Amino acid sequence: MEKKTVFSGIQASGSLHLGNYLGAIRNWASMQYEYNNYFCVVDLHTITISQDPSTLRAKIREVAGLLFAAGINEENSVVYIQSEVKEHSELAWILNCITPLGWLHRMTQFKEKSETQKEEVSVGLFDYPVLQAADILLYDAHLVPVGEDQRQHVELCRDIAQRFNYRYGQVFLPPEAFIAPFGGRVMGLANPDKKMSKSEEKQEDSISLLDSPDQIRGKIKKATTDSLRDIRFNQERPGVNNLLTIYQLLTEKNQEEIENHFAGKSYKDLKEQLAEVVIESLRPLQERYNELTGEQGCLEEMLARGAERAGAQAERKIRQVQESMGLR
Ligand code: AMP
Ligand code: TRP
Repeated sequence: MEKKTVFSGIQASGSLHLGNYLGAIRNWASMQYEYNNYFCVVDLHTITISQDPSTLRAKIREVAGLLFAAGINEENSVVYIQSEVKEHSELAWILNCITPLGWLHRMTQFKEKSETQKEEVSVGLFDYPVLQAADILLYDAHLVPVGEDQRQHVELCRDIAQRFNYRYGQVFLPPEAFIAPFGGRVMGLANPDKKMSKSEEKQEDSISLLDSPDQIRGKIKKATTDSLRDIRFNQERPGVNNLLTIYQLLTEKNQEEIENHFAGKSYKDLKEQLAEVVIESLRPLQERYNELTGEQGCLEEMLARGAERAGAQAERKIRQVQESMGLR
């Protein structure tokens, strides 16, 4: 039987953190053997919010390197940079012309993002979900592994695909979101009521995948807990719950085992042990990252191969789209 296709994208807007790893990248790496995969660094999505050019250039490369370092490999997956395959922009324009404005007005992520930015909001930010639909539809992806926050965008993509097919024939495959049963929401360390996120102002909230052991110990030490004593999984105690959840995701022990392990211990013990687990879990990833980026030209070559493979598929698909619409 032919393997199904997986597509997912990740922005280059900041440093990748433990939430990205546990909620996304680690799952992509472990599921890659069952599927044909495309993992894309979505730099065109990243510029929907203003970026400093030299920082952006470095982050694009860093994110791509971390995908490989996390175990995604060229045998099973195509890893590439979105702007290097021009068909993403081309298809986004075509889809713009068939997407009703009202559908975009319903996107909750745009509402959230535009509230914090006010007059800075660009047309690109509003159009972001259409570019995302183009990403997915170019590769005939069956499954789109993402966090819960992206479900609405994947549903929009399905609607756009169906609308297009209704007008022009069976061209697109409507995809499905694939939301991992856990790891979907790692919370901030200092502010455990908010998601761990890439934004640079919240350094104390997130553990970057490239943080040094001392940085990791320092951030976990300062993590918010509560005034109780016992160490238990409990949603109503977001700080302790989050530390335990990270511990669980990394050690793969069950909740009861973990609670027994920490019975009678202090928050200080929990934090110290968690820090060591995080450090040891990230060590192999950091070593591979350093190898990959230390070898001159190695990452660049891998990305050039990725763009070539993705480009071949994207070119075939855009031709089919153009023919179906009378553009060719
Ligand atoms: P982003 O950082 O928003 O570009 O997201 C990249 C991927 O990581 C998406 O699949 C997100 O759903 C996932 N992700 C981002 N933040 C978290 C978090 N705090 N916990 C779990 N998954 C996350
Ligand atoms: N919007 C996604 C995020 O912020 C990133 C993304 C862009 C994406 N294009 C995609 C995810 C296509 C899945 C499929 O996480």
